[in-house]
Amino acid sequence: MKIIWRVSGYIFRYKGLFSLTLLLAVAMTLAGIAVPRVIEWILQGMSADGGGQSLWKGAALISALFLLREAFNCLRIRVNNTLEQRVLIDLRAELHQRLMQLPISFYDRNKSGEVASRVIEDVQNVERGLLDGTEQGISALLMVGGICGVLLYMEPQLALWVIAPLPIVLALNWWHSIATRRNWKKVRESSGELNSLLVEDIQGNRLIHSFALQKSEHARFLRIAEELRERTLRAMFRWSLHGPGTSFVGSLGTVAVVCMGGYMISSDPNFGYPRLFAFFFYAMMLYEPLRSLNMLNHMLAAATASGKRVFEILDHPVNISNAAAPLPFPGGKAPDVHYRNVSFAYPERDEVISGLNLTLPAGKTTALVGHTGAGKSTIANLLPRYYDVDDGAVEIAGVNVRDIDLTALRENVGYVAQDPFLFDGSVRDNLLMARAGASEADMLAALDGANAKDFVLRLPNGLDTPIGEKGVRLSMGEKQRLTIARVLLKNPPIVILDEATSSVDTQTERLIQAALDTLMRGRTVLVIAHRLSTVRRADNIVVLERGSIVEQGRHEELLAHKGLYHRLWNFQLDLVPERD
Ligand SMILES: Nc1ncnc2c1ncn2[C@@H]1O[C@H](COP(=O)(O)OP(=O)(O)OP(=O)(O)O)[C@@H](O)[C@H]1O
Ligand SMILES: [Mg+2]
Repeated sequence: MKIIWRVSGYIFRYKGLFSLTLLLAVAMTLAGIAVPRVIEWILQGMSADGGGQSLWKGAALISALFLLREAFNCLRIRVNNTLEQRVLIDLRAELHQRLMQLPISFYDRNKSGEVASRVIEDVQNVERGLLDGTEQGISALLMVGGICGVLLYMEPQLALWVIAPLPIVLALNWWHSIATRRNWKKVRESSGELNSLLVEDIQGNRLIHSFALQKSEHARFLRIAEELRERTLRAMFRWSLHGPGTSFVGSLGTVAVVCMGGYMISSDPNFGYPRLFAFFFYAMMLYEPLRSLNMLNHMLAAATASGKRVFEILDHPVNISNAAAPLPFPGGKAPDVHYRNVSFAYPERDEVISGLNLTLPAGKTTALVGHTGAGKSTIANLLPRYYDVDDGAVEIAGVNVRDIDLTALRENVGYVAQDPFLFDGSVRDNLLMARAGASEADMLAALDGANAKDFVLRLPNGLDTPIGEKGVRLSMGEKQRLTIARVLLKNPPIVILDEATSSVDTQTERLIQAALDTLMRGRTVLVIAHRLSTVRRADNIVVLERGSIVEQGRHEELLAHKGLYHRLWNFQLDLVPERD
């Protein structure tokens, strides 16, 4: 009920359109209700004057009524669809906005295909169920009420016989709607799962090929598809009993008209065939809207199930948001950064970092090294608030990052991620994402600084070559240099660099290293270093083990210390013996 009420809020934003669609539905219904009475009137006229005048008049009147009804219908469809599309876009826009604000932890826990299915399918279900539901519901109720009224006015006794099954049908409908709600919820869940599997299989296509997983993935698909089929069928079978069942109960009203009407014709001289005909017509019409009320129950059940899924996203807390009075990004060309007593755990996991104290000196490069899973990326993520610390604070130039305006913070902290991600679009589009309105010269300078200019200009359309999903495939080294160029263009005072672990050839390594040197110059840099050349040149190397600092200092100092760094270094040298 709460969900229905909430969605109504979206519809009520368009009070004018909504009233108009209802008004048209009502007009259409009224035109329909008038028809049997007109027919009765014609038939009566015919039996009085034997056709002629009244026949033609009647025929014209009925045609006009039908025409009017369909004209109303035509308008109603247009208004209804306009409203429908507006509500749809509103809801989707709000969802998308929320999705863009939700913290990264939300995406850790939710599968992308599943989220997409909520935005596309569930929104559609909600809107259709509710909007069409209200409209059809109101015209159905009006139809039932109107017909009952006319029947009672015409022939109260006979009317009671026709109406008698009505309460039973209504009660059955109510029961059905409650019983199917769970079924529909399950159907929606399966559908979301299927969607998410599909997205995964498409995205992970290469992996599937390389592990020859086609068969097992298809089996997985079939299993979920089968489950969806079963659940949908269960919901539909319920309906297959209920729909025809209530229809049968309703038809008993028609049977009553035939029996009682037949009896009345012989016993009541005022009750003629024209009246019996009109009555019969109404009896048939009475149970038609009940069928649509039934359908409506169906739609409402699906809509509430979908609504729940939609509102789960809309209600998901944006726990990483601006402070009440956010501060501007603290000035300076390259501010220092302090991690003070920082502890952090991913939701429902053990602490990854405990009581960490770390300083990134202004304008210097600090390298984080350590075993895989030591918490290096995690430490980096806390600086631009991809996650918030559980305890302690991260400070930029003495200001807690939580107090800094979130947009300003993200604008001033450049992040080159471990796995370079490029959007579907041209090189230019990808660069402009870093700084909207950057000039051609700026872009070329950034590409140059990142050692990416040569290969970009060699692409078929230069800067305008589509890359990413649907475009030219770039090599890992090229992607990395492009992501570096993106950050160079953004020109932030603080840079986080999570070096990719995948090894590249010596030539590319040199190019990337030169690009990184340009990027690091004059900024405060935190680099998670895998490249020996990067580590060696760092001003300070911090060696991490299970979330705690075990050693730190310059390269030579650490080597002399013969601790973990010494072991890591020798291990890497063994892997790449040809390097200096
Ligand atoms: N999003 C997440 N949700 C839950 N646990 C996570 C998440 N990301 C990382 N972890 C866990 O936190 C620990 C630290 O991970 P982190 O990514 O910081 O390691 P890392 O030092 O960057 O490793 P690598 O060198 O392989 O990149 C690991 O045990 C990892 O399983
Ligand atoms: Mg990492």
